[in-house]
Amino acid sequence: MEKKRVLSGNRPTGRLHLGHLVGILGNWVDMQDQYECFYEVADWHVLTTSIENSGTISENTREMAMDWFAVGIDPEKSTVFVQSRVPEHAELHLLFSMLATVSRLERNPTYKEQINELNLGDQVSYGLLGYPVLQAADVLIYRAHAVPVGDDQLPHLEFTREMARRFNYLFGEVFPVPEPKLTKTARLPGIDGRKMSKSYGNAIFLTDDPDTVHKKVWNVITDPQRIRLKDPGNPEVCNVYSFYKVFADDRVERVGRECRNAERGCTACKKELVEILIDLLAPIQKERKKFEQDPGLVEDYLARGSEKAREEAAATMKIVRQKMGVGRI
Ligand code: TRP
Ligand code: SF4
Repeated sequence: MEKKRVLSGNRPTGRLHLGHLVGILGNWVDMQDQYECFYEVADWHVLTTSIENSGTISENTREMAMDWFAVGIDPEKSTVFVQSRVPEHAELHLLFSMLATVSRLERNPTYKEQINELNLGDQVSYGLLGYPVLQAADVLIYRAHAVPVGDDQLPHLEFTREMARRFNYLFGEVFPVPEPKLTKTARLPGIDGRKMSKSYGNAIFLTDDPDTVHKKVWNVITDPQRIRLKDPGNPEVCNVYSFYKVFADDRVERVGRECRNAERGCTACKKELVEILIDLLAPIQKERKKFEQDPGLVEDYLARGSEKAREEAAATMKIVRQKMGVGRI
């Protein structure tokens, strides 16, 4: 039986952190055997919100790609590519833009959030409004069946599904309507308890050295009611415990019990967590060194992946043009 297809992507904003690892990358790595996977560096999407930083995109692409390969995205199994190197996405984006209404795009909750968060006022670009149209083109140009993403991407995926249905209705069946594949792990907070995010400055990066991990874990907020060692703790309100839940399945029960019974101090608890995280990161960092020492290797992988992606995208565009009756057919 032919494998089903998966496409997912991420905007290159630099190095990745543990939140990315548990939120998406783990899922991406696991899917590689079961599915035919396409993983995209969505560099055009970065331009929708930070056109003034376009000069950092190629460096950020390298950093992110190195993290992907280091955690086990395997270019022999998966097609890892750069969006801007597959110009067919732009063509499909243009055609989809005729199927998308402005009012639908203005209702997109992510769009509204971005305008507020970035304080855009009347400085909203046409590109930002069309963000989900480009994302729909990303997914559908590979005729993907599934999209592994975090729940923050669900509105975009819903829009993608609408585009697929609308195109199929108007021009005939071309696109599968893709399903979201959400990660099941508990959400990982950052060191301040909010969602882990680079922009909050609360992230532990995959590239953090042991000292940095130690310093960061030391700043994690524990149960604020617990002042002395003999006070029983409440692990459910402790952020250190959230890390145990995600990264130490086998210890979480014991840690919780010892905390509640005041048999374990927060310092020892943090020390143990630091060790767990260092052990987790060591093999990733070792693998990453290979790419850091040989810059040609990442470029080679991305070049090959992008070429392969381009063939697939071109094949879909041929069908799309034919169905629509536009272009060279
Ligand atoms: N919007 C996604 C994000 O911010 C990135 C993305 C671009 C994407 N194209 C995609 C995700 C296609 C899934 C499928 O992370
Ligand atoms: Fe948190 Fe561990 Fe301290 Fe309990 S003992 S409050 S789980 S750090």
